[in-house]
Amino acid sequence: MYNAFFGFKENPFNLSPDPTFLYRSQMHEEALANLIYGVQSRKGFIVLSGEVGTGKTTLLECLRDFLEVQMVEFAFVFNSRITADQFFEMIAYDLDLRCNRNSKTEVLFALNHLLIQQANEGRTSVLIVDEAHNLEWEVLEEIRLLGNLENRRGKLLQIILSGQPELDRKLEAPNLRQLKQRIVLRCNLHPFREEDTIAYINYRLEKAGMRDQTVFSFDLMAEIHRCCQGIPRVINAVCDNLLLNTFAQEQQESTVEMLDEVCNDMRIDYPGRRSRGERGRYAVDAYRGD
Ligand SMILES: Nc1ncnc2c1ncn2[C@@H]1O[C@H](COP(=O)(O)OP(=O)(O)OP(=O)(O)O)[C@@H](O)[C@H]1O
Ligand SMILES: [Mg+2]
Repeated sequence: MYNAFFGFKENPFNLSPDPTFLYRSQMHEEALANLIYGVQSRKGFIVLSGEVGTGKTTLLECLRDFLEVQMVEFAFVFNSRITADQFFEMIAYDLDLRCNRNSKTEVLFALNHLLIQQANEGRTSVLIVDEAHNLEWEVLEEIRLLGNLENRRGKLLQIILSGQPELDRKLEAPNLRQLKQRIVLRCNLHPFREEDTIAYINYRLEKAGMRDQTVFSFDLMAEIHRCCQGIPRVINAVCDNLLLNTFAQEQQESTVEMLDEVCNDMRIDYPGRRSRGERGRYAVDAYRGD
Protein backbone atom coordinates (compact mmCIF):
# COMPACT_ATOMS: atom_id res chain seq x y z
CA MET A 1 0.00 0.00 0.00
CA TYR A 2 2.75 2.43 0.99
CA ASN A 3 5.48 0.89 -1.17
CA ALA A 4 5.31 3.44 -3.97
CA PHE A 5 5.13 6.34 -1.49
CA PHE A 6 8.40 5.32 0.18
CA GLY A 7 9.99 3.88 -2.95
CA PHE A 8 10.11 0.25 -1.78
CA LYS A 9 10.51 -2.55 -4.32
CA GLU A 10 8.66 -4.84 -1.95
CA ASN A 11 7.13 -4.80 1.49
CA PRO A 12 10.02 -4.47 4.00
CA PHE A 13 8.17 -5.99 6.94
CA ASN A 14 6.40 -8.95 5.44
CA LEU A 15 5.42 -11.53 8.05
CA SER A 16 6.38 -14.56 6.00
CA PRO A 17 9.56 -16.49 6.87
CA ASP A 18 11.39 -15.34 3.74
CA PRO A 19 15.06 -16.42 3.73
CA THR A 20 16.00 -13.68 1.27
CA PHE A 21 15.27 -11.19 4.06
CA LEU A 22 17.39 -13.02 6.63
CA TYR A 23 19.19 -10.60 8.88
CA ARG A 24 22.28 -12.47 9.98
CA SER A 25 22.50 -11.51 13.62
CA GLN A 26 25.31 -13.36 15.35
CA MET A 27 22.73 -15.57 17.02
CA HIS A 28 20.95 -16.46 13.75
CA GLU A 29 24.25 -16.93 11.97
CA GLU A 30 25.50 -19.32 14.65
CA ALA A 31 22.26 -21.28 14.75
CA LEU A 32 22.23 -21.69 10.96
CA ALA A 33 25.89 -22.70 10.94
CA ASN A 34 25.11 -25.29 13.63
CA LEU A 35 22.20 -26.71 11.67
CA ILE A 36 24.34 -27.05 8.55
CA TYR A 37 27.27 -28.48 10.50
CA GLY A 38 24.99 -30.95 12.26
CA VAL A 39 23.59 -32.19 8.95
CA GLN A 40 26.95 -32.35 7.21
CA SER A 41 28.67 -34.18 10.04
CA ARG A 42 25.76 -36.63 10.38
CA LYS A 43 25.22 -35.86 13.99
CA GLY A 44 21.75 -37.37 14.19
CA PHE A 45 19.41 -35.31 16.38
CA ILE A 46 19.54 -31.52 16.42
CA VAL A 47 17.15 -29.28 18.33
CA LEU A 48 16.40 -25.66 17.44
CA SER A 49 14.35 -23.93 20.08
CA GLY A 50 13.30 -20.37 20.70
CA GLU A 51 10.54 -18.05 21.78
CA VAL A 52 7.56 -17.41 19.54
CA GLY A 53 8.45 -15.26 16.54
CA THR A 54 12.24 -15.28 16.94
CA GLY A 55 13.01 -16.73 13.50
CA LYS A 56 13.01 -20.54 13.77
CA THR A 57 10.95 -21.19 10.65
CA THR A 58 12.94 -18.57 8.75
CA LEU A 59 16.16 -20.42 9.61
CA LEU A 60 14.61 -23.74 8.58
CA GLU A 61 13.70 -22.14 5.24
CA CYS A 62 17.35 -21.10 4.87
CA LEU A 63 18.39 -24.64 5.63
CA ARG A 64 15.90 -25.91 3.07
CA ASP A 65 17.51 -23.65 0.43
CA PHE A 66 20.92 -24.97 1.41
CA LEU A 67 19.78 -28.62 1.15
CA GLU A 68 18.19 -28.00 -2.24
CA VAL A 69 21.40 -26.48 -3.59
CA GLN A 70 23.38 -29.42 -2.18
CA MET A 71 20.80 -31.82 -3.63
CA VAL A 72 20.28 -33.47 -0.24
CA GLU A 73 17.04 -35.45 0.11
CA PHE A 74 14.85 -34.05 2.87
CA ALA A 75 11.35 -34.16 4.27
CA PHE A 76 9.86 -31.06 5.88
CA VAL A 77 7.05 -31.70 8.33
CA PHE A 78 5.54 -28.31 9.13
CA ASN A 79 2.24 -29.42 10.62
CA SER A 80 2.98 -31.19 13.84
CA ARG A 81 -0.57 -31.81 15.04
CA ILE A 82 -0.62 -35.16 13.33
CA THR A 83 -0.97 -38.81 14.15
CA ALA A 84 1.86 -41.28 13.64
CA ASP A 85 0.15 -42.57 10.46
CA GLN A 86 -0.12 -39.05 9.04
CA PHE A 87 3.51 -38.45 9.96
CA PHE A 88 4.67 -41.40 7.87
CA GLU A 89 2.37 -40.37 5.04
CA MET A 90 3.86 -36.86 5.02
CA ILE A 91 7.42 -38.18 4.95
CA ALA A 92 6.52 -40.54 2.11
CA TYR A 93 5.09 -37.67 0.07
CA ASP A 94 8.02 -35.37 0.67
CA LEU A 95 10.62 -37.99 -0.15
CA ASP A 96 8.51 -39.29 -3.01
CA LEU A 97 8.68 -42.83 -1.70
CA ARG A 98 7.20 -45.35 -4.12
CA CYS A 99 5.07 -47.45 -1.82
CA ASN A 100 1.63 -47.59 -0.28
CA ARG A 101 1.90 -44.36 1.69
CA ASN A 102 -0.85 -45.40 4.06
CA SER A 103 1.08 -48.41 5.26
CA LYS A 104 3.63 -47.63 7.94
CA THR A 105 5.47 -50.88 7.22
CA GLU A 106 5.80 -50.07 3.53
CA VAL A 107 6.87 -46.51 4.20
CA LEU A 108 9.52 -47.67 6.65
CA PHE A 109 10.78 -50.23 4.19
CA ALA A 110 10.97 -47.71 1.35
CA LEU A 111 12.55 -45.10 3.62
CA ASN A 112 15.20 -47.53 4.78
CA HIS A 113 15.94 -48.41 1.18
CA LEU A 114 16.29 -44.74 0.23
CA LEU A 115 18.53 -43.95 3.21
CA ILE A 116 20.87 -46.82 2.47
CA GLN A 117 20.99 -45.91 -1.20
CA GLN A 118 21.81 -42.30 -0.34
CA ALA A 119 24.45 -43.37 2.18
CA ASN A 120 26.06 -45.65 -0.41
CA GLU A 121 26.40 -42.61 -2.66
CA GLY A 122 28.05 -40.73 0.17
CA ARG A 123 24.96 -38.61 0.79
CA THR A 124 22.87 -38.03 3.84
CA SER A 125 19.12 -37.42 4.21
CA VAL A 126 17.32 -35.02 6.47
CA LEU A 127 14.04 -34.87 8.34
CA ILE A 128 12.97 -31.42 9.50
CA VAL A 129 10.06 -31.09 11.91
CA ASP A 130 8.85 -27.57 12.64
CA GLU A 131 6.53 -26.77 15.56
CA ALA A 132 7.86 -29.93 17.19
CA HIS A 133 6.58 -28.82 20.61
CA ASN A 134 3.12 -29.89 19.41
CA LEU A 135 4.12 -33.45 18.54
CA GLU A 136 2.26 -36.27 20.24
CA TRP A 137 4.37 -38.60 22.39
CA GLU A 138 3.66 -41.40 19.99
CA VAL A 139 5.05 -39.44 17.03
CA LEU A 140 8.11 -38.40 19.04
CA GLU A 141 8.75 -42.05 19.78
CA GLU A 142 8.54 -42.92 16.06
CA ILE A 143 11.00 -40.12 15.35
CA ARG A 144 13.37 -41.50 17.96
CA LEU A 145 13.26 -44.89 16.28
CA LEU A 146 14.01 -43.31 12.89
CA GLY A 147 17.07 -41.77 14.52
CA ASN A 148 18.41 -45.23 15.25
CA LEU A 149 19.08 -46.00 11.61
CA GLU A 150 22.80 -45.83 11.06
CA ASN A 151 25.76 -47.35 9.29
CA ARG A 152 29.44 -47.30 10.19
CA ARG A 153 29.88 -43.74 8.98
CA GLY A 154 27.15 -42.23 11.04
CA LYS A 155 23.42 -41.66 11.23
CA LEU A 156 21.53 -42.26 8.01
CA LEU A 157 18.88 -39.70 8.79
CA GLN A 158 19.63 -36.30 10.29
CA ILE A 159 16.66 -35.13 12.31
CA ILE A 160 16.01 -31.50 13.17
CA LEU A 161 13.32 -30.75 15.71
CA SER A 162 12.37 -27.11 15.94
CA GLY A 163 9.95 -25.60 18.39
CA GLN A 164 9.06 -23.18 21.12
CA PRO A 165 10.61 -23.52 24.60
CA GLU A 166 7.90 -26.07 25.48
CA LEU A 167 9.89 -28.44 23.28
CA ASP A 168 12.86 -28.25 25.64
CA ARG A 169 10.55 -28.88 28.57
CA LYS A 170 8.88 -31.78 26.77
CA LEU A 171 12.26 -33.36 26.10
CA GLU A 172 12.90 -33.33 29.85
CA ALA A 173 10.03 -35.76 30.43
CA PRO A 174 11.18 -39.12 31.84
CA ASN A 175 9.59 -41.07 28.98
CA LEU A 176 11.65 -39.09 26.45
CA ARG A 177 15.02 -39.53 28.10
CA GLN A 178 16.18 -41.88 25.36
CA LEU A 179 15.44 -39.23 22.78
CA LYS A 180 17.02 -36.50 24.90
CA GLN A 181 20.20 -38.54 25.21
CA ARG A 182 20.49 -38.71 21.42
CA ILE A 183 20.40 -34.97 20.90
CA VAL A 184 23.90 -33.97 19.94
CA LEU A 185 23.39 -30.34 19.03
CA ARG A 186 21.14 -27.67 20.42
CA CYS A 187 20.61 -24.20 19.03
CA ASN A 188 18.67 -21.48 20.81
CA LEU A 189 17.11 -18.28 19.55
CA HIS A 190 16.40 -15.37 21.87
CA PRO A 191 14.85 -11.95 21.35
CA PHE A 192 17.20 -9.35 19.83
CA ARG A 193 19.24 -6.94 21.91
CA GLU A 194 18.65 -3.27 21.11
CA GLU A 195 21.55 -2.94 18.68
CA ASP A 196 20.29 -5.96 16.75
CA THR A 197 16.74 -4.62 16.57
CA ILE A 198 18.08 -1.38 15.10
CA ALA A 199 20.36 -3.16 12.64
CA TYR A 200 17.47 -5.51 11.77
CA ILE A 201 15.07 -2.66 10.96
CA ASN A 202 17.71 -0.86 8.89
CA TYR A 203 18.56 -4.08 7.08
CA ARG A 204 14.97 -4.86 6.12
CA LEU A 205 14.39 -1.31 4.90
CA GLU A 206 17.55 -1.43 2.84
CA LYS A 207 16.68 -4.83 1.43
CA ALA A 208 13.30 -3.46 0.35
CA GLY A 209 15.01 -0.63 -1.51
CA MET A 210 15.50 2.20 1.02
CA ARG A 211 19.19 2.82 1.63
CA ASP A 212 20.28 5.07 4.50
CA GLN A 213 16.73 5.30 5.71
CA THR A 214 15.49 8.37 7.56
CA VAL A 215 11.93 7.27 8.18
CA PHE A 216 12.74 5.81 11.63
CA SER A 217 15.10 7.81 13.82
CA PHE A 218 17.60 6.04 16.07
CA ASP A 219 15.57 6.98 19.16
CA LEU A 220 12.36 5.74 17.64
CA MET A 221 13.98 2.40 16.78
CA ALA A 222 15.22 2.13 20.36
CA GLU A 223 11.63 2.68 21.50
CA ILE A 224 10.37 0.12 18.97
CA HIS A 225 12.83 -2.32 20.48
CA ARG A 226 11.40 -1.72 23.92
CA CYS A 227 7.80 -2.07 22.85
CA CYS A 228 8.47 -5.21 20.80
CA GLN A 229 10.84 -6.65 23.40
CA GLY A 230 13.21 -7.60 20.60
CA ILE A 231 10.87 -10.14 18.98
CA PRO A 232 11.31 -9.99 15.18
CA ARG A 233 7.69 -10.86 14.33
CA VAL A 234 6.36 -8.11 16.60
CA ILE A 235 8.95 -5.67 15.22
CA ASN A 236 7.72 -6.46 11.70
CA ALA A 237 4.08 -5.94 12.62
CA VAL A 238 4.77 -2.68 14.47
CA CYS A 239 7.04 -1.25 11.75
CA ASP A 240 4.52 -2.18 9.06
CA ASN A 241 1.76 -0.36 10.94
CA LEU A 242 4.03 2.59 11.60
CA LEU A 243 4.84 2.94 7.91
CA LEU A 244 1.14 2.75 7.15
CA ASN A 245 0.37 5.55 9.63
CA THR A 246 3.23 7.66 8.32
CA PHE A 247 2.00 7.19 4.77
CA ALA A 248 -1.60 7.99 5.77
CA GLN A 249 -0.40 11.26 7.29
CA GLU A 250 1.74 11.94 4.21
CA GLN A 251 4.85 12.27 6.38
CA GLN A 252 8.38 11.11 5.56
CA GLU A 253 9.30 10.33 9.16
CA SER A 254 7.50 8.25 11.79
CA THR A 255 7.05 9.78 15.21
CA VAL A 256 6.78 8.47 18.73
CA GLU A 257 3.13 9.58 18.78
CA MET A 258 2.47 7.32 15.81
CA LEU A 259 4.23 4.47 17.60
CA ASP A 260 2.08 5.09 20.63
CA GLU A 261 -1.04 4.89 18.49
CA VAL A 262 0.15 1.69 16.83
CA CYS A 263 0.87 0.12 20.22
CA ASN A 264 -2.61 1.09 21.39
CA ASP A 265 -4.24 -0.31 18.25
CA MET A 266 -2.22 -3.51 18.50
CA ARG A 267 -2.87 -3.78 22.25
CA ILE A 268 0.85 -3.86 22.93
CA ASP A 269 1.80 -3.04 26.45
CA TYR A 270 5.32 -3.26 27.73
CA PRO A 271 7.24 -2.59 30.91
CA GLY A 272 8.13 1.07 31.30
CA ARG A 273 5.62 2.25 28.73
CA ARG A 274 5.01 5.93 29.20
CA SER A 275 1.51 7.34 29.43
CA ARG A 276 0.43 9.89 26.83
CA GLY A 277 1.02 12.76 29.27
CA GLU A 278 4.73 11.97 29.35
CA ARG A 279 5.25 12.43 25.66
CA GLY A 280 7.03 15.76 26.02
CA ARG A 281 9.44 14.27 28.51
CA TYR A 282 10.10 11.33 26.20
CA ALA A 283 11.79 13.43 23.58
CA VAL A 284 14.22 14.82 26.14
CA ASP A 285 14.87 11.44 27.76
CA ALA A 286 15.35 9.80 24.43
CA TYR A 287 17.70 12.52 23.34
CA ARG A 288 19.78 11.94 26.43
CA GLY A 289 19.73 8.25 25.59
CA ASP A 290 18.13 7.18 28.92
N1 LIG B 1 16.97 -13.10 11.46
C1 LIG B 1 15.87 -12.70 10.83
N2 LIG B 1 15.97 -12.03 9.67
C2 LIG B 1 14.89 -11.60 9.00
N3 LIG B 1 13.63 -11.80 9.42
C3 LIG B 1 13.47 -12.47 10.57
C4 LIG B 1 14.56 -12.96 11.34
N4 LIG B 1 14.08 -13.57 12.43
C5 LIG B 1 12.76 -13.48 12.34
N5 LIG B 1 12.37 -12.82 11.24
C6 LIG B 1 11.01 -12.48 10.83
O1 LIG B 1 10.16 -12.57 11.96
C7 LIG B 1 8.95 -13.22 11.63
C8 LIG B 1 8.78 -14.44 12.49
O2 LIG B 1 9.78 -15.38 12.14
P1 LIG B 1 9.50 -16.95 12.16
O3 LIG B 1 8.16 -17.25 11.60
O4 LIG B 1 10.68 -17.59 11.53
O5 LIG B 1 9.51 -17.19 13.73
P2 LIG B 1 9.29 -18.54 14.53
O6 LIG B 1 10.34 -18.59 15.57
O7 LIG B 1 9.21 -19.69 13.58
O8 LIG B 1 7.88 -18.29 15.21
P3 LIG B 1 6.84 -19.35 15.82
O9 LIG B 1 7.39 -19.74 17.16
O10 LIG B 1 5.55 -18.61 15.95
O11 LIG B 1 6.77 -20.51 14.87
C9 LIG B 1 9.00 -13.49 10.12
O12 LIG B 1 8.39 -12.45 9.45
C10 LIG B 1 10.48 -13.48 9.82
O13 LIG B 1 10.71 -13.09 8.51
MG1 LIG C 1 7.70 -21.02 13.16
